[in-house]
Amino acid sequence: MENKPIPTHVGIIMDGNGRWAKAHGVPRVMGHNAGMQAMKKIVKASSKLGVKYLTVYAFSTENWKRSVEEVSGIFNLIVKYVNSELEELDENNVHINIFGDYSMLPDASVKAIDKMVGRLADNNGLIFNIALNYGGRDEVVRSVKEIAAEIAAGKRAADDITEDDISAHLWSGSAHFDVPDADLIIRTAGDLRISNFLLWQSAYSELAFTDTLWPDFTEEEYASILENFGGRERRFGGRNEETK
Ligand code: IPE
Ligand code: IPE
Ligand code: MG
Repeated sequence: MENKPIPTHVGIIMDGNGRWAKAHGVPRVMGHNAGMQAMKKIVKASSKLGVKYLTVYAFSTENWKRSVEEVSGIFNLIVKYVNSELEELDENNVHINIFGDYSMLPDASVKAIDKMVGRLADNNGLIFNIALNYGGRDEVVRSVKEIAAEIAAGKRAADDITEDDISAHLWSGSAHFDVPDADLIIRTAGDLRISNFLLWQSAYSELAFTDTLWPDFTEEEYASILENFGGRERRFGGRNEETK
């Protein structure tokens, strides 16, 4: 039997926590807590299923528009996550990168994140990227600014800028392990949009949408989406019959 390809890098837009809370008649923060439980399971499943890079969208640069109560509830969950999962993440050889400037989060969250990232720094199993205060456009602007500064300092010429240079200055390219473009992006909860996630890195990503609300997303559904990915023909603008 032919072995189906597994996506090297999976991105997940973990949407639907609010709708899940509403359906269960509980506060939105409880929806985010349920979403965190789902995320724990999907992190473990990723290692098991052979995914090398997992990037989850946890908080966008636009999510600050939400109430202070909801935003601080989400940030408190980060501390809770670190306290409950750090040992096991380390045992499982998980490495964590944060995509986004998390310095403006509350002190306790920043400390918890620094502790987690530091503790897992030498691990090289699953590369787990958490997009936190992340925006795809913001990321491209940061990359361009860094390159512009190199030009202003006389270190390089504007004419020589390549796509690889832009990639190298994104969160994904400047992480400890170079994170390749996303092979597959999954969005839960039924909306058919990207919402500013991995804009540059998704140029040729396969997309998968499911109506399942994020807290209800299971390892079985994840495995079946990966299986479906394995059957897709990716052409990258070419014609596969010619290259075969
Ligand atoms: C996704 O769930 C989590 C974050 C954006 C932080 P939502 O909170 O957006 O859930 P819905 O879309 O309101 O259901
Ligand atoms: C995307 O979901 C962001 C995260 C999952 C963190 P949103 O709920 O913020 O997206 P929109 O507003 O529906 O596009
Ligand atoms: Mg949403």
